[in-house]
Amino acid sequence: MNLADSIRAIPDYPRPGIVFRDITTLLGDARAFRRAVDELVQPFAGLKIAKIAGIEARGFILGGAVAHQLSAGFIPVRKKGKLPLETLRATFALEYGTDEIEIHRDAVLPGERVLLVDDLIATGGTAEAAVNLLSGLGAEVVAACFIVDLPDLGGADKIRRLGVPVRTLVSFRDA
Ligand code: PRP
Ligand code: MG
Repeated sequence: MNLADSIRAIPDYPRPGIVFRDITTLLGDARAFRRAVDELVQPFAGLKIAKIAGIEARGFILGGAVAHQLSAGFIPVRKKGKLPLETLRATFALEYGTDEIEIHRDAVLPGERVLLVDDLIATGGTAEAAVNLLSGLGAEVVAACFIVDLPDLGGADKIRRLGVPVRTLVSFRDA
């Protein structure tokens, strides 16, 4: 089975000229979903990962499954205004304007080993902000993993330059 074949390409979404990589078809295929989660966690079994940080929204779907598989806890990295207690917030650039994500300040303990999970890395702005939040709380970000990489946008390299190893399963070059 080739995971790339279970990811649907939607031309001109959300804007003309953009090819949207839709993982709902992968998630809906029992064998592909299991394969993706198994492949994501494979290098990390036995590495004593304490917690998975999943990025809202699509990173929650994968992050929960990865956390279960690694017997780790789960930290939601949420879009702003969704968490009820004291948070740490990070701003990152979008194509037009900025957005913010946040985590609870008590979500990790200093030195805790955390694996960051999301469905896709494009510019890496979202993942970089998440790494900064986790590092800001003293966590050790062991790695970041994604099903899809859009390497032309440079996100994975941006995260590697932060000193965080990156694992991706499928690359699409016509981003
Ligand atoms: C998408 C994707 C990643 C992020 C990647 O999420 O799921 O989280 O963009 O982009 P970047 O590498 O350029 O930062 P999006 O914010 O569209 O929302 P969703 O996950 O809530 O659908
Ligand atoms: Mg997302």
